[in-house]
Amino acid sequence: MVQFNLPENSKTLKGNYFKDTTGSKNIKKVNIYRWDPTKNENPKIDTFEVDLTSCGNKVLDILNKIKNEIDSTLTYRRSCAHGVCGSCAMNVDGINTLSCMKSHKDINGDINIYPLPHLKVIKDLVADLSNLYRQYESIEPWLKSREKKSQKNEINQSKKNRKKLDGLYECIMCACCSTSCPSYWWNGEKFLGPAVLLQAYRWIIDSRDDEQKERLKIVGDKLKLYRCHTIMNCTNSCPKGLNPAKAISSLKKMLATN
Ligand code: SF4
Ligand code: SF4
Ligand code: FES
Repeated sequence: MVQFNLPENSKTLKGNYFKDTTGSKNIKKVNIYRWDPTKNENPKIDTFEVDLTSCGNKVLDILNKIKNEIDSTLTYRRSCAHGVCGSCAMNVDGINTLSCMKSHKDINGDINIYPLPHLKVIKDLVADLSNLYRQYESIEPWLKSREKKSQKNEINQSKKNRKKLDGLYECIMCACCSTSCPSYWWNGEKFLGPAVLLQAYRWIIDSRDDEQKERLKIVGDKLKLYRCHTIMNCTNSCPKGLNPAKAISSLKKMLATN
């Protein structure tokens, strides 16, 4: 029988234990993935006892508390803290989500926090999104309006056409969907993944854009698009409640009928 083993230096080891020093009765244990590229060491899981009495409700509040009061070397991305920028995406209790939107009150027992799965790790909870952003750039995510270039006024859109962008323009490119997609895990270099395909569809159906055909040609490829097997993990994991799987099937339908 074939046996698959992880390389020795990729195995996650038990890390440091940071015991509560406040004497609080309201303690939550938080286990966090740690990896430092400057040290020649395996990744490890550090455990922090966090006093929830003086902590906000979100998982990001816990991370901020740990960084401010317990271990300032803890590394993670965040900016808006209101579910707008997408930078605080990570895996909390086995689900990709925005740590600033996820309430720790919904989690029973210990909280387990990892970086977004199947990406290279830069440090601790910061995953490398370079490939995803290169793919995003490849779909040219901006309005291409040939004839209206000289027009000084706004390019108007009917209410009906504007409505077609609902459920798409809200995407904040957090990558929760792409990094929960098994096809993206195995073919991430070539398959564009749900986040980028949803964005591609957003520009393709924008009535103000004049390059629908060219855009469809860019994505209509057996690896870039058809590696999606409609498993739906992407839609289940979107913290903004969007439906990238539906956008992908709309793209496939357009290609089949154009
Ligand atoms: S579709 Fe949802 S999960 Fe995917 S990048 Fe956009 S906001 Fe994030
Ligand atoms: S539907 Fe499934 S295969 Fe397609 S992008 Fe979403 S998770 Fe990936
Ligand atoms: S910090 Fe901006 S979405 Fe969470």
